[in-house]
Amino acid sequence: MSKANNSKIKFYSGENIPLELHKVRIVQKLNLVPIERRLEALKEGGFNTFRLSTKDVFLDMLTDSGTNAMSDMQLSAMMHADDAYAGSQSFARLQQASEDVLKKKYLLPVHQGRAAENILSRAYIKKGDLIPMNYHFTTALAHITENGGRIVELLYEEAYNINSSHPFKGNINVEKLEETIKETGVENIPFIRMEASTNLIGGQPFSVQNMRAVRNIANKYGIRLVLDASLLGENAYLVIQREEEFQNATMAEVIGIMTGLADIVYFSARKLSSSRGGGICTDDLKIYRELEALVPLFEGFLTYGGISVREIEAMAVGLYETLDESMICQSPQFIEYLVNTLVSAGVSMVTPAGVLGAHVNAMEVCKHIPQTQYPAGALAAAFYLISGIRGMERGSVSNQRDEDGNETYADMELLRLAVPRRVFTLSQIMYVLDRLTWLNDNRKLIGGLKFVYEPSVLRFFMGRLAPVSDWPEKLMAKFREDFGDSL
Ligand SMILES: Cc1ncc(COP(=O)(O)O)c(C=O)c1O
Repeated sequence: MSKANNSKIKFYSGENIPLELHKVRIVQKLNLVPIERRLEALKEGGFNTFRLSTKDVFLDMLTDSGTNAMSDMQLSAMMHADDAYAGSQSFARLQQASEDVLKKKYLLPVHQGRAAENILSRAYIKKGDLIPMNYHFTTALAHITENGGRIVELLYEEAYNINSSHPFKGNINVEKLEETIKETGVENIPFIRMEASTNLIGGQPFSVQNMRAVRNIANKYGIRLVLDASLLGENAYLVIQREEEFQNATMAEVIGIMTGLADIVYFSARKLSSSRGGGICTDDLKIYRELEALVPLFEGFLTYGGISVREIEAMAVGLYETLDESMICQSPQFIEYLVNTLVSAGVSMVTPAGVLGAHVNAMEVCKHIPQTQYPAGALAAAFYLISGIRGMERGSVSNQRDEDGNETYADMELLRLAVPRRVFTLSQIMYVLDRLTWLNDNRKLIGGLKFVYEPSVLRFFMGRLAPVSDWPEKLMAKFREDFGDSL
């Protein structure tokens, strides 16, 4: 299982404390508004944390997308960007970085991860096609279904076990993959999708061994293998921590092996390189040609793809920095600290700790709330109310209805508390621990939610909900009773 945190830096006390390997040079002031204002903000935002304004948010743990701290090297690189519609030198530098880090010859720039999903889905999916994958991501699923495709999720049973010690819950079930291909027919499977650090099941990685097995099946049947590399750095870090064969490997080696096993690698640069933008890479000229025309159509010219040249420079440097284990380890170590401490305090969490964030098991914490009343959404709203911390619902609210308009309840109801790279300090993490432990002790006071405005696509972004009773007021009263006039 996982090597100890900070295995290279031990504390005299013997405590396992995540140590920041960076210093703070630029700061941004935060606001912690009183709980009465937080309740108003929730009402204004339809009890949907996406609709909160940052002026009402203390710690923004909504996502790591576009919120990772940038390095001094990234910021300085932005100053020598080459403004040109075509043939920009900034793009040449990005292409070089992509070749060096992701080991693929061709790069198509796109404005963010879902733009890559749009292009891949348009290029390859025809009505009725099936895309086997370890697990869906919201935007990937939306683009696949938008183009007439369907998905099948092929995880092993263990992945659905919230409390587990399995090191690679993101592994594709290779036996089921082969069965699925035989049943569906190769002609109806344009590609297999593997998502690094599988986001919606708690940021859980897959192993290189599993990816090799999937590659063998892809070869056997002549199907393309697509890697969603948005969280590849963290997946590679956990491979080094957890997979025997790679315990002495470098990040560059593991990343190179993983991208080498895929025909197409796409990513959200908002995550992978702590910048903005996204990309699609391949070594196959035929694939490049099949996708190329869609970039000027939807994104921008082939040497900027809808991304500002300054961000392209930051992206290039960010890609190289992804190879730095002492940078990548920061967020997973904070997450592991959060998860292990919360588990010791009796809070039900997804284990083992994954990447991207700590995931609270709302199905257990709010087991008195039926799935029809969105326990993870309710927990996200309640946690914001009592702490000013904004997390993200990753449960049934984030699911989309089926073709007949029926709810498709999520396999897991999670509150995700994202830990963007190098953003929070340890005392802020202690505050998260304190408030979440209090909420867990007072969980019976949390009630359910109902939709009052429900968009048909990606409803979790814009939807509005309302509490089914006056539970927020009661929770606020208990907070005041216990914390007095504390913020
Ligand atoms: C695994 C994964 N794939 C794709 C995306 C979509 O990327 P973007 O938000 O840049 O469109 C995300 C975003 O969070 C993601 O986590």
